[in-house]
Amino acid sequence: MKVGFVQFAVKFGDKEGNFQRTEELIRDKTADIWVLPELFNTGYVFINKNEVAALSETIPDGKTTQFLLELSKKKKSTFVAGLAEKADDKYFNSAVIVSNGEFVGLYRKIHLFYKEKLFFSPGDRKFQTWDVNGIRLGVMICFDWMFPEATRTLALNGADIICHPSNLVMPYCQNAMVTRCLENHIFAVTANRIGTEKRGDTVLEFTGGSQITGVKGEILHRADRSREEAFVMEIDPKLARDKQLNELNDLFLDRRPEFYFS
Ligand code: ACM
Repeated sequence: MKVGFVQFAVKFGDKEGNFQRTEELIRDKTADIWVLPELFNTGYVFINKNEVAALSETIPDGKTTQFLLELSKKKKSTFVAGLAEKADDKYFNSAVIVSNGEFVGLYRKIHLFYKEKLFFSPGDRKFQTWDVNGIRLGVMICFDWMFPEATRTLALNGADIICHPSNLVMPYCQNAMVTRCLENHIFAVTANRIGTEKRGDTVLEFTGGSQITGVKGEILHRADRSREEAFVMEIDPKLARDKQLNELNDLFLDRRPEFYFS
C-alpha cells in the first residue's frame, strides 16, 4: 500500500489557502493514506482564547472535516489531519480520520506542548486504533512522541501504522521515532510543517523533516527542513504484525508488565 505525507508552510488563519495548498501539493499523486500536519487548517501560534474560539470547529460537521471528507472521496483515499476542535465549551487539539468520503474517527491530543496548555483542554479519550481497509491505524499528535507510552499503547492495541500529524519545533522527534518504531515494530508517518509563525511575542520556527519510519527503525524517507513536499512510498503494513526479534525474543510476549510502574 502507499502512504504519504504533506509538508507545507501553513498560513495562520487562512483555512481556504491551506486547503488549496494541500490540494495543489497532492494533485498529481495518489496514496492510500495521506497524513497532514497538526492544525493544518489554522496554523499553530494562537495568542488568545478568542482566536481559538473563532478558528476551531465542530467535528464532523465543521468546514475542515467536510473539506477532508470531500477530498478523500475525490482522491479515493484516507486522510489523517490535525485541526482545532470545538466541543461543548471546550477546545481540543484534535485529528480526524476520514476515508473515501466516510468519517472514521477522532483523536484529541493527550500530551499538550507548551502554550497549547493555555488554549486547549487535554485529550479526554484513550489512545485507540481504527481498522481502515484491513489496516489498523493509530493516531497521535506531535508532542505525544515524547511519551513512549503513547506509541506502546497504540502498538499493543494493534496499530500497524502510526499516523502522526505534527508541528515540531524541537530537533529530537525524527530521531526518536526510530526507537519508537523499532521497539514496537510499527510504521510511522510523521507529517510536519515548515515556516515561521510570529504572533504576539511568540516566534516559532517549524523544523520540517517529515518522516516515514519503518518497523526496524529505518528512516525510509525524511523530507527537507524547509521545502514543501508531498511524498508517497510503498510499504507493507503487515510487517508490523510480526513482533519477533529473533527466534527467542518477541517484543510483546517478552514484556514483564508486573515489574513496570509503581
Ligand atoms: C508540538 O507538540 N506541537 C510540539
